[in-house]
Amino acid sequence: MEKRTRKSRSRNARPRGLRHQRQQDQKIICLQSARLSAIDRQLQAKEIVPAPTLHTKDLVLKPLIKPLPIQPIWLNEPKNTQFSEQRWRKHTVSSCSKYILDCTYFWVINAVEIDKYIGTISVHLDEPNRVAEIGILIDHTYGGKGYGTQAWSEVQRWLLESGVRKVTAGCMSVNTPMVKIFKKTGMTFECERKGHFLKDGHPVNAVYYVRWK
Ligand SMILES: CC(C)(COP(=O)(O)OP(=O)(O)OC[C@H]1O[C@@H](n2cnc3c(N)ncnc32)[C@H](O)[C@@H]1OP(=O)(O)O)[C@@H](O)C(=O)NCCC(=O)NCCS
Repeated sequence: MEKRTRKSRSRNARPRGLRHQRQQDQKIICLQSARLSAIDRQLQAKEIVPAPTLHTKDLVLKPLIKPLPIQPIWLNEPKNTQFSEQRWRKHTVSSCSKYILDCTYFWVINAVEIDKYIGTISVHLDEPNRVAEIGILIDHTYGGKGYGTQAWSEVQRWLLESGVRKVTAGCMSVNTPMVKIFKKTGMTFECERKGHFLKDGHPVNAVYYVRWK
């Protein structure tokens, strides 16, 4: 019979470690698929009509029904949310899936040249009134390259050609890039709410822009 030395014990220990690791991995996979099937059930209940894939000069907008791991990272980055109400919250994959479920349409934005996801764009549709509200997030590391303008313009075009009467959106008056996008894509000023947000402790106005069919 083999004498069990310290060396042979440690050699035997390795497969047990691997087995344990495999069991742990299996548990994680089971938990993940249980969570995904819960999302699938919610999606089925909501009967989401998938949005089409949209294309611009530099971007592909891909409809998304489940969150990507990068989304909470974008939303937890203060530079990305400094002008957005998302700045007050902590974001997780689960909170992102709830947000996607709450939207009528949700796209992840892919920059073709670098083949990277750079942000998201979403629509809440008020179907009986045929009014659509758009929201956007472009990761700050890809800001100022015209991506926000292209995505906004394309989603607006698609909505207005799909029966929407009024496209609307709002932001802080001090969100210069967003206000520029509103104006560049044919939206006009509709109204403002004085001192509606607190930005760095100071009241700032909320501004709303609109584009009619
Ligand atoms: C607002 C936002 C979508 C702009 O995206 P973007 O890809 O940088 O937009 P564009 O590159 O098309 O730029 C639009 C305009 O803003 C300007 N701009 C972009 N970043 C800027 C910055 N940091 N400071 C000043 N101007 C800026 C651009 O120069 C351009 O103006 P121009 O046409 O006069 O050249 C992006 O900054 C963002 O997602 N912010 C966080 C989320 C948010 O605030 N969403 C709005 C609420 S719905």
